[in-house]
Amino acid sequence: MRILIKNGLVIDPSRQMEEKLDLLIEAGVVKEVSASINVGPSSPDQVIDASGQWVVPGLIDLHVHLREPGQEWKETVASGAAAAVMGGFTAVCCMPNTDPVNDSAEVTEFILERADTAGLCRVYPIGAVTMGSKGERLAPLSELKKAGCVAFSDDGQPVYNPEIMRRALEWVRMFNAPISCHEEDKHLSRGGAMNESSLSERMGLIGMPKVAEDVMIARDIELARVTGGHVHICHISSARGVELVRRAKNDGINVTAEVTPHHLVLTEEAVEGYDTNAKMSPPLREEEERLALIEGLSDGTIDVVASDHAPHEAASKEVEFSEAAYGILGLQTSLPLLLDFVDSGTISRLRMIEVLSTAPAKVFNLKGGSLKEGKVADLTIIDPQVEWIFSPETVKSLSFNSPFIGRRMKGAARATIVDGRLVMLDGQLIRSA
Ligand code: DOR
Repeated sequence: MRILIKNGLVIDPSRQMEEKLDLLIEAGVVKEVSASINVGPSSPDQVIDASGQWVVPGLIDLHVHLREPGQEWKETVASGAAAAVMGGFTAVCCMPNTDPVNDSAEVTEFILERADTAGLCRVYPIGAVTMGSKGERLAPLSELKKAGCVAFSDDGQPVYNPEIMRRALEWVRMFNAPISCHEEDKHLSRGGAMNESSLSERMGLIGMPKVAEDVMIARDIELARVTGGHVHICHISSARGVELVRRAKNDGINVTAEVTPHHLVLTEEAVEGYDTNAKMSPPLREEEERLALIEGLSDGTIDVVASDHAPHEAASKEVEFSEAAYGILGLQTSLPLLLDFVDSGTISRLRMIEVLSTAPAKVFNLKGGSLKEGKVADLTIIDPQVEWIFSPETVKSLSFNSPFIGRRMKGAARATIVDGRLVMLDGQLIRSA
């Protein structure tokens, strides 16, 4: 298949490029990027006029929950992949807190097979660090890696035992994979439903203090220091956590970090009306923490934005705030929420594409993140101006838990191309024949 994209603004952080160019895709790779491409007598299968639009390396989300196997009423690999490509993502990495937990080659292979059948984006499984994510015995990390896992995590849970974490880091260092760490000491946050603050007191809810996150970040940085293993900090939410990562990077420690769009956009005030769609772990925090996250993203302390797309059915959310499930949707709202930061001049568009594509590819050693000639043709065309409302009708997930439902958005993915194949154009999914 040959696709010619004309007149778009090509933004490629892998070579610091922002230039109005044409781009030709052939046989699954970027064949040519130049001022004016004429393909001669043999016309391409598809010509897309991207005037006024951005042509960028495909967006990559390092942190999503696809719920299959085991909780298919919340999301499936296929529905999650549909939400991903609608949101402009060409690849997603799915967390292992399924049922059963992805702690075996069988589960990894099952997820890969489902992704193949869905035929939309790349799906990279993340394997558990410990069996059942129970923190007691190491999972078969080499076997999981061989089966296709790109990283390891007990997301939702910390790995409490530092001896196990140390061994895990020693293992993954051998095959150059990260451990994606959910940093929360639940002895400090247990039963918590929101950020610990004067607001949580006023609302009569048990708070989750920032120190519950910070102590685990500090520990894992020290374990990365002694082992040389790669610690990736999931969904960082505190200013102190950002400072710990900043210092660790200055010390040359093998640590990277991600932040979610919702922690960049919202504060704890979003839960004021006991809106369970604003409940997640880690919780939304105070304004000064939010500003520290933005600063960390701007100065490179935080490497990537990842959505923590966490679908939950209505029954898990339409309950008392303290009983509601943690987590919100993310795949279809990440891009427009980040575009708002570009519009306000908070981050440059080059940095935005870097944190959504080039950096995630590098952090998890994945294909993509670049539009250099010869690279795999995973790319996204973004219309930065289009206005739309994130409504239940636009949601491709099986769940609707988002505090952004009803919000007017500016900017969206116009087309998503995976491995040289158009999988979404103008809001229509295109599955392989
Ligand atoms: O809010 C969250 N939801 N945080 C997590 O760590 C887990 C996730 C989920 O699985 O729903």
